Amino acid sequence: MNVSDKKRNAATASLEFIKPGTSLGVGTGSTVNFLIELLPQVRDKIDSIVSSSKASTALLEDLGFRVSTLNEVGDIDLYIDGADESNKRLQLIKGGGGALTREKVLAAAARRFVCIADDSKLVGMLGAFPLPIEVLPMAQELVSRRILKMRGHPIWREGFVTDNGNHILDVSDLHISNPIEMEARINRIPGVVTVGIFADRPADVLLLGDDDGVREMRV
Ligand code: 5RP
Repeated sequence: MNVSDKKRNAATASLEFIKPGTSLGVGTGSTVNFLIELLPQVRDKIDSIVSSSKASTALLEDLGFRVSTLNEVGDIDLYIDGADESNKRLQLIKGGGGALTREKVLAAAARRFVCIADDSKLVGMLGAFPLPIEVLPMAQELVSRRILKMRGHPIWREGFVTDNGNHILDVSDLHISNPIEMEARINRIPGVVTVGIFADRPADVLLLGDDDGVREMRV
């Protein structure tokens, strides 16, 4: 089965988590784009939708959904999003699409976080995928120097500006043996807006598309 089919199958499986009256948070990325295409099938079950990016908002609005702000909705019942990596504890690396800050806010606001991905995203230890960090543009060099001291190798995602007007550093070679500790440590660097480790608030459910269908993992 090819990767797109695996992503589409994981997205399809996540529809089961949308119950009547759901306030839904929608993530960002190619896997979530499959979900967005499917959402009209469950339109009558969705009470409200909040989006994690301008890109997802545009796709949702094209399908006739009204996208609310998180401030209007309050906590959400369900957040569905993809990931760049997940370990068995459902701690994630996210931000490949650069939407990590709003994604982390929605994950924090969600009573349940369902992650959808193809099976290549399941790893033993987080960090083979370069870790995205959203930074204030004026602090980019300061944050880079601090990351180098941690033996990470930051690369500026040149030409990319986040929905919040910030920059992204993609960091290779960090040793993320303790994701909760690493998330907190990077968050403490002045100028860091968000680090793409989602360990303090991991996913609750991981739906992994593989050659046999969809495998469900819970912590
Ligand atoms: C965007 C993300 C995405 O969830 C992550 O990059 C996975 O993307 P895809 O579904 O395209 O593989 O964190 O910021």
